[in-house]
Amino acid sequence: MTTTDAARAPETDADQQVSTTAGGRGEWWRSAVIYQVYPRSFADGDGDGMGDLPGITARLPHLAELGVDALWLSPFYTSPQLDAGYDVADYRDVDPRFGVLADADALIARAHELGLRVVVDLVPNHTSWEHAWFRAALAAGPGSPERARYLFRDGRGEHGELPPTSWRSVFGGPAWTRTTEPDGTPGQWYLHLFDSSQPDLDWSNPEVVREFQDVLRFWLDRGVDGFRVDVAHGLVKADGLPEWDAETEMITGTLAGQHGESRTPPPMWDQEGVHEVYRAWRAVLDEYEGDRMLVAEAWVDPVERLARYVRPDEMHQAFNFGYLVSPLDAAALKAQVEETSRAMAAVGAPPTWVLSNHDVVRHTTRFGLSTAGGNPDGLAAGDDQPDPAVGLQRARAATLLMLALPGSAYVYQGEELGLPDGVVPDDARQDPTWERTGHEVNGRDGCRVPVPWEGDAPSFGFGPTAASWLPQPAVYGELALDRQRDVPGSTYEMYRAALRLRRELALGSSPGLDWTDLDGAAEVEGGVLAFRSSGALVVANLGGEPVRLPDGAEVLLVSGELGHDGEARLLPPTTTAWLRGPAATA
Ligand code: GLC
Repeated sequence: MTTTDAARAPETDADQQVSTTAGGRGEWWRSAVIYQVYPRSFADGDGDGMGDLPGITARLPHLAELGVDALWLSPFYTSPQLDAGYDVADYRDVDPRFGVLADADALIARAHELGLRVVVDLVPNHTSWEHAWFRAALAAGPGSPERARYLFRDGRGEHGELPPTSWRSVFGGPAWTRTTEPDGTPGQWYLHLFDSSQPDLDWSNPEVVREFQDVLRFWLDRGVDGFRVDVAHGLVKADGLPEWDAETEMITGTLAGQHGESRTPPPMWDQEGVHEVYRAWRAVLDEYEGDRMLVAEAWVDPVERLARYVRPDEMHQAFNFGYLVSPLDAAALKAQVEETSRAMAAVGAPPTWVLSNHDVVRHTTRFGLSTAGGNPDGLAAGDDQPDPAVGLQRARAATLLMLALPGSAYVYQGEELGLPDGVVPDDARQDPTWERTGHEVNGRDGCRVPVPWEGDAPSFGFGPTAASWLPQPAVYGELALDRQRDVPGSTYEMYRAALRLRRELALGSSPGLDWTDLDGAAEVEGGVLAFRSSGALVVANLGGEPVRLPDGAEVLLVSGELGHDGEARLLPPTTTAWLRGPAATA
């Protein structure tokens, strides 16, 4: 038996960590379940086919009923929506498609009434090209203070016709776009690690630094409980923008090898200077009452590099993408849990766990593919299609494993319904990756298809009309919330029971977990993960044979159906169970 010391801050009394109830005292984020709302696709209040803030507010009771502690809202700020809102034109206002600022205030107030914390997205690596700063930069011309907020450079070649470096955009194509100067002549180039509509800011400019501290205060003053920091590992670039001609991958199938043999981060990622930015932000948050938090979206490896973002004077949490891209394999998952827990405990931060978000194929679909995991490019109609039943069974088993782990967990809207990705026809695709790669990379639209609430309603209750900005597959009708609520064994009821039990048993705030062997399970050892935590016994059977559950243990929750062999209860393959007792045998 080995012990993994997770979620425990050194020199911290365990009692101080226990804050599983939203609205409770203490460092709530250490054990919180945080539900990601993707505003375009959650609920459409006005029937235009695009989700909005009033739609979200009206559906907040769903989140309270589900039993999560907080919601994280993907960007709803003013934006031309060329990267679905991750191209922000005004950080202090709401996009008219989503509502007005008062709608954001109303959403925050209603969430707080319901005991839910609110985390908003902050996009500091780049603005939209429609941001006032970028317009001013184009108008002002080379050498101006307006251009110094971004990364404008002269081109190479006799007439500046070649980009300043060979850097590639994460979304495909070059990371530089040439401008036309105010007098009509071909001009300087600007850097964009993502779409050309998303110019990168220059974080060595004190004005940029000040501006974002001010944006933080703007939303902190409005009552938000935290920020999810977009591309947190990208803000600072290596001095002089040195040449780099490899792919600029970010959301990769595997994080290993991202930094090449040398393990030196590429000049655009994971530079030392980003930590100074987050130390300053932490100081801003610490001025505010009420346990505000920062969570990093940082695709870095190994996990020790990730842990540097959550040192005691930096952010509070970082997404664990290593866990997300892991195959559904007992040894691989156990290694992820151990490595993450160890690295996070070393800096006093809680581990986090996540299986789905708006950038990856949903885990129900991923696990239904023959590859059973990883991070495939979104699905096209002509691709190998997932097996929906296998995918759902695996997803449910993976979810019950994840929700039992000590630390904080993220749930992406619709996963509580077991939604698969929608297969979006090519002519409906909106992710800029699709165009930027010349239609080679399908992109992320499949996981962004609007959520079904009522099986028989137009747009399955997404909004009051049939309009939906991405087409919904017919199966979303069968999976709609109203088809699953109060239905024993439904995925929705499984999530609800899991979140209730997680809270009752204080699984999230458990100071660690003890791996255990199950008596009689030796023959399937490789495929079984079993551990004790907070008085519960969690058994995930990811192998091919049924596992005999310990006699006398009370079964609290199962992701599938138990089998029997005489008196003995059998946990079938691809199934996770939560049990209580009997006491652990040493
Ligand atoms: C993050 C977001 C993703 C966006 C990108 C650029 O990875 O999660 O959706 O496209 O940053 O802002």
